[in-house]
Amino acid sequence: MPNPARDALIARLPKAELHLHIEGSLEPEMLFAFAARNRVVIPFASADAVRAAYDFSNLQDFLDIYYQGMAVLLTEQDFYDLTWAYLERAAADNVRHVEIFFDPQGHTDRGVAFGTVLNGIERALLDGEAQLRISYRLIMCFLRHLSEERAMATLAEATPYIGRIHGVGLDSSEIGHPPSKFATVFAKAGELGLHLTAHAGEEGPPEYVREALDLLRVERIDHGNRALEDPALVTRLVDEEITLTVCPLSNVRLCVIDDIAASPVRMMLDLGIKVTINADDPAYFGGYVNDNFRAVAHALGLSAAQIVALAENSFAGSFLSDADKAQHIAAVREAAA
Ligand code: ADE
Ligand code: ZN
Repeated sequence: MPNPARDALIARLPKAELHLHIEGSLEPEMLFAFAARNRVVIPFASADAVRAAYDFSNLQDFLDIYYQGMAVLLTEQDFYDLTWAYLERAAADNVRHVEIFFDPQGHTDRGVAFGTVLNGIERALLDGEAQLRISYRLIMCFLRHLSEERAMATLAEATPYIGRIHGVGLDSSEIGHPPSKFATVFAKAGELGLHLTAHAGEEGPPEYVREALDLLRVERIDHGNRALEDPALVTRLVDEEITLTVCPLSNVRLCVIDDIAASPVRMMLDLGIKVTINADDPAYFGGYVNDNFRAVAHALGLSAAQIVALAENSFAGSFLSDADKAQHIAAVREAAA
């Protein structure tokens, strides 16, 4: 049932987005514009043809197209424009804080320098802070289908810039690439003082979520859907107040769930898990963060209190200071009242 009051609540609540791959915000129109200005040939006739190709059966299907799309990103200005477009869109959804992922290996392996990527993304984030009043953290992901040695080399490449990067994550093809494969590089990142997070339990089994917690020592889990298959793991997530960054429209488009009504968000809230709502790769999955909020609120019949809890969780689970978290959570409560 349409519910304008609920949609208005979603629109006005301040929120943080904790699971957003900046390369996944490359809208088809931008793909064309960057391809034209960089003289990169892409195998599509129009933005509509690109959208029609976004019909995925699983994570790998999507990743194959996602890595192809990156080929148009070459200059610092490309990374700036990509990030700025996302921030403007996020501001329209009342996002007040973002923790965005980037995939350096997707660029350095194509000959784009690490500094080019970082400078472009960061310049937009700094402008977003000044002009849109959106604070940020930047999280560098390792591609898990590549070796741990390659991840180590990427961390070494990042070391001169380390004060400008706040955390590391783990993404790409999950099955067959367990967190245990990356224990050494995560330990090293932890020693450098970086925050730690990892994709786990999107397609992979609950054991991967355990490994991420025990072997990588992550502070939160990206996705985590399949943790619900393991009651002892659920108890642990609740007891340790581990934040899960769930991505409902992504889950539908990657066939992690059959339809939006099968989203685990309500179950997680009922169990006492610190679940948050995120867009993942909005250009590919048909919606930004408020679209995700509306989709689950509608399909699962979430109450106003549950929607407010999701917004509070987004700040509580962020890498902000305790004082900043408290200030944002107070603002959520004020907007909800
Ligand atoms: N890279 C970009 N989006 C991803 C996702 N949903 N899972 C794993 N790797 C990704
Ligand atoms: Zn993701």
